Amino acid sequence: MDLGLIPHGAVAAREGRVVWTGPETEIADALEVPDDAVVVDVEGAAVIPGFVDAHTHLTWAGDRAAEYGARLAGATYLEIQAACGGITSTVRATRAATEEQLAALAARRLDSFLRHGTTTLEAKTGYGLTLEDEAKQLDAGKVAHPVRRVHTLLAAHLTPEEYAGREDEYISLVCDRILPALAGQAEFVDVFCDEGAFTVEQSRRVLEAGRSLGYRLKIHAEELAHTGGTALAASLGAVSADHLIHITPDDVALLKEAGTVAVLLPGTSYTLHTTYAPMRELLSAGVTVALATDFNPGSCYSENLQMSISLACQEDRVTPAEALRAATMGGAAALGLQHEIGSLEPGKYCDLLVLDAASHQELPYHWGVNLVAGVIVGGEVVVRDRQLVSPAVAPRATH
Ligand code: NIG
Ligand code: FE
Repeated sequence: MDLGLIPHGAVAAREGRVVWTGPETEIADALEVPDDAVVVDVEGAAVIPGFVDAHTHLTWAGDRAAEYGARLAGATYLEIQAACGGITSTVRATRAATEEQLAALAARRLDSFLRHGTTTLEAKTGYGLTLEDEAKQLDAGKVAHPVRRVHTLLAAHLTPEEYAGREDEYISLVCDRILPALAGQAEFVDVFCDEGAFTVEQSRRVLEAGRSLGYRLKIHAEELAHTGGTALAASLGAVSADHLIHITPDDVALLKEAGTVAVLLPGTSYTLHTTYAPMRELLSAGVTVALATDFNPGSCYSENLQMSISLACQEDRVTPAEALRAATMGGAAALGLQHEIGSLEPGKYCDLLVLDAASHQELPYHWGVNLVAGVIVGGEVVVRDRQLVSPAVAPRATH
């Protein structure tokens, strides 16, 4: 895969956007650099576009560390959920939190995403499950922070406890009340279409209602079992279908035909001890693939997209270049932002990473550590020498 690498390259930006890229030796001829330009010399380090993490559950309260231990001892994700652990326990904690508390949690997590190189992320709701609590979660995810955000309403994450046994009534609440009330405040609508969550028919209701209100569409599909969410996504022209662990060859063909992006979340397979989505097959079929974290308290508690890149290379044997492209341009496509972010091209935002490495190939190879030494968002240096220039939340005092 041709990443368009430029040896000894330089990037010039004005008013937050890239205006030129090319060999360092050509910059003086190519454009007039004003005397007051900020010059950052990275001394031979690799520079890559900022990561675009197109699937995160950013904002929630509570703690599910005990659940992790229970899963190691043999309990399954669905067994824990059926016993009112899992998503339901995070819903209880998130409902009990104030918007200010949630915003502080989100800001702290965004700091961590940024230090690991994520310059744009998608933030889902889905732990409120009432109009008021979904709105609170959505607003908290909009806390001021340099990381760019795209917001997704996932009110159809799970049927809340008070609607137990009345799933269709809850779907009606989502379609008739929650989606209309929050239209215009989130770009996407999403639904958890899977065993133990919502059926294809219930998911169709949510996505069709969302589409008619102007939301763009996403779906959680084939994560725990194959239930047909991918075919639904393709038939409705969804921008992305996410997870796809249990996808079939027919589904791959449908995604290709519909132009729906496959968002793969290898960190979730790692955490839940499942097989991995077939990234190689999807790429071979010509489907656009995005790599994202799925950051959430249950199935993947990690802000580090470098780890997802490493897992994709290890487990699906894709190349470092294919994985990097999926974590940048692929993510941008999954958010409908491929003309704004995802690569360092004139006209796009100047969002870039300076690696503590001479090549992007070290991202999967030198694994389990943070290789991001510097981050620029919209032309502003926001991480320098691995430190946030102005952290949203002061570091905790050490004892
Ligand atoms: O993408 N699949 C549904 N939602 C999340 C998990 C959320 C949770 O466990 O809290 C996921 O894996
Ligand atoms: Fe998810």
